[in-house]
Amino acid sequence: MKVFGICASPRKNTTEYVLKIALDKLEENGFETEMFICQAKDIKPCMHCDYCLENKKCVIDDDMGSVYEGLQNSDGIILATPVQSGGVSSNLSAIMDRTRALEAVDYNILRGKIGMSIAVGGDRTGGQDFAHLKNITYFMIHGIIPVSGGPFGSNLGASFWSNDSLDDIKEDEYGIKSLNRTLREFENFLNKYI
Ligand SMILES: Cc1cc2nc3c(=O)[nH]c(=O)nc-3n(C[C@H](O)[C@H](O)[C@H](O)COP(=O)(O)O)c2cc1C
Repeated sequence: MKVFGICASPRKNTTEYVLKIALDKLEENGFETEMFICQAKDIKPCMHCDYCLENKKCVIDDDMGSVYEGLQNSDGIILATPVQSGGVSSNLSAIMDRTRALEAVDYNILRGKIGMSIAVGGDRTGGQDFAHLKNITYFMIHGIIPVSGGPFGSNLGASFWSNDSLDDIKEDEYGIKSLNRTLREFENFLNKYI
């Protein structure tokens, strides 16, 4: 089974660090993984030109092509975002909107896949849950089954406090606990439903 992880930070730092931990654990447990890193990638916002509805592809020729492939070929999807302005990054927001072109080709293309959310905030309570809710909403809209850490903690996904520092996120034991809980459910769902 294949898991596609999107690191939605505009740089390679704390979000990439925790997404890599997640993907490494999945690899150890027999999953094939691929990470798409937004850093230095060209992903333009959707222009709502409706070209995709007519022509079954997006009119914009940029790095979104790799995201389309990754999403489409995956069984599980991890959206890992830094918290920006109390929500997901603008990179991730653009990716979400541009998914429209995939469904113009095949309405069911993402349905039944399993999704999980990772949110990394500079602050302990900087909006991680709002970022999760956006990711979960995206999953719902596209028929992707969202998982969380379950009813006893990490209830919306894996939440990290970076304190704006790669050194400090490594000390966030509760964040790792929330990642492990969420990953366990993610793997359970992949094994049960895919
Ligand atoms: C434009 C911008 C907005 C941000 N807004 C928030 C925020 O609302 N809440 C928060 O906790 N951290 C916020 N941060 C801090 C980042 O979430 C934090 O530094 C995170 O670790 C960055 O992830 P990265 O290292 O993968 O880029 C913001 C950072 C930037 C650049």
